[in-house]
Amino acid sequence: MKTNLSLAPCSEAATELLTVFAVDAAPKGATKPEIRLLAADDAPAKAAQSVLDGGEFKGESSETLLLHRPAGLTAKRLLLVGLGKSAKLTPHEVRKGAGTAIRFAKPRGLRELAIAVPVGEGLEPNLTIRALAEGAVLGDFDSDTYRSDRKDRTVGTLQVVAPPSSDQATAEAALREGVIVGESQNFARALVNEPGNRLTPTILGQRAEEMCREFGIRCEVHSTEKMRELQMGAFLSVTQGSDEPPALIVMTWEPPDAPASPLLGLIGKGITFDTGGISIKPSDNMEKMKYDMAGGAAMIGAMRAIAQLQVPVRVVGIVCAAENMPSGKAQKPGDVQIAMPAPGKPGKAIEIINTDAEGRLVLADGITYAKQLGATHLIDAATLTAAVAVALGQINAGIFANDEDTLERFMDGLRVSGERFWRLPAEDDYRDVIKSTIADIKNTGGHYGGAINAAMFLKEFAEETPWLHLDIAATAWVDDPKPWLASGPTGVAVRSVVQWIRGYRT
Ligand code: BES
Ligand code: MN
Ligand code: ZN
Repeated sequence: MKTNLSLAPCSEAATELLTVFAVDAAPKGATKPEIRLLAADDAPAKAAQSVLDGGEFKGESSETLLLHRPAGLTAKRLLLVGLGKSAKLTPHEVRKGAGTAIRFAKPRGLRELAIAVPVGEGLEPNLTIRALAEGAVLGDFDSDTYRSDRKDRTVGTLQVVAPPSSDQATAEAALREGVIVGESQNFARALVNEPGNRLTPTILGQRAEEMCREFGIRCEVHSTEKMRELQMGAFLSVTQGSDEPPALIVMTWEPPDAPASPLLGLIGKGITFDTGGISIKPSDNMEKMKYDMAGGAAMIGAMRAIAQLQVPVRVVGIVCAAENMPSGKAQKPGDVQIAMPAPGKPGKAIEIINTDAEGRLVLADGITYAKQLGATHLIDAATLTAAVAVALGQINAGIFANDEDTLERFMDGLRVSGERFWRLPAEDDYRDVIKSTIADIKNTGGHYGGAINAAMFLKEFAEETPWLHLDIAATAWVDDPKPWLASGPTGVAVRSVVQWIRGYRT
């Protein structure tokens, strides 16, 4: 999708479809909605007046109304997209609204459209343009990649019509940022969408390498030999049951203008397929376990965005990619594995209780390796537990932290990213649940608080280094499409991780 910025009045936009956002501005307790169009001039409102008077359009979130040959506008069609109550308006509503406009145009074969940047209370102009661009790019993604009769319905050109009074340079920069972040999120979604037979750990490594070459990131992809050298006993134990070799993907972003510190370490779970191993999963829904590399994909997408945005912060991204398979070589419940040693210390001994708790095993060694590479702050993303869905449903992802300042910086960024993370505890009092009699720790913690138990396991490896853990198991995939987003991979965490990294610019 190509994008361009126009500062002409929206009445003059020459387009197949001009989108204008609308809110319900009725005071609390009113019986009827009061539709207000969020455009810089009143030409669209005039064109839509008689239809709006009819009361069929209520301005609800994602509601649409199409008008042909709108009077007084150059555009051939006018599309109104509702953003809900004006008092609750945020840039995230605009993100969804832009996606809704794109997904309205796609099935109608419209390859070109314009969206008027909304103006209103609560809408800082540049954040609004950014969110609009992100939403449009995200809305253009579809997951039906392998349908033989697939029709390419991607939108060719989007014209972003900003108020004539806008500062052109800053508006253009905001637009470009939004496009970069949206495309990087789609890059992650495309990886997550690939089935296990088409995206093995080796292929994931190649895809990361290609991306890194394109955007000037240093990238090394290691496999078993290097992992043995590093004594990554936890990561290796997961991969030993599979015929596919693992991939330890290491992406390094070191811009010349970045200070030596901080060095942010991103660690992603890259299980390209999770059968559960010997503790095998039931067949129902097992096909979904191709998305068990969504945390790794999010980190690859985030690296892509920060490189393209030239963020002046040092970042190392590590993706631990493997298949979790049962076989004669697979690890067994009861086995004891020795994790990668930290400098001057022996590796922690882990009793394997359940081979399906494999994500924490690969991440444990990824975290230790990030620290060995000098990371001063850590963040991991993983489709780690079904339990996080029990705790939080499918709206908020789980976030855990061992450091309040680092957490605060991440949570601050959510106002820009529009993503939802809810903190769950990882207090030391929970540590008892992962005690083992035969080894230092065990890889499961019993029936209660499964998402917390997994976080406690990871916390053992983060030790004193400030660390955030994102459990995205319930939010990385949606079964039902939304008006603004296709069903399938969501690319969750890309935007928030990018914003968190940008927060460290000096
Ligand atoms: N990849 C799964 C978690 C998952 C489940 C992600 C459903 C997305 C949807 C993870 O490896 C796993 O199997 N976790 C187990 C842990 C348990 C054995 C302690 C789980 O959540 O059941
Ligand atoms: Mn598992
Ligand atoms: Zn898994």
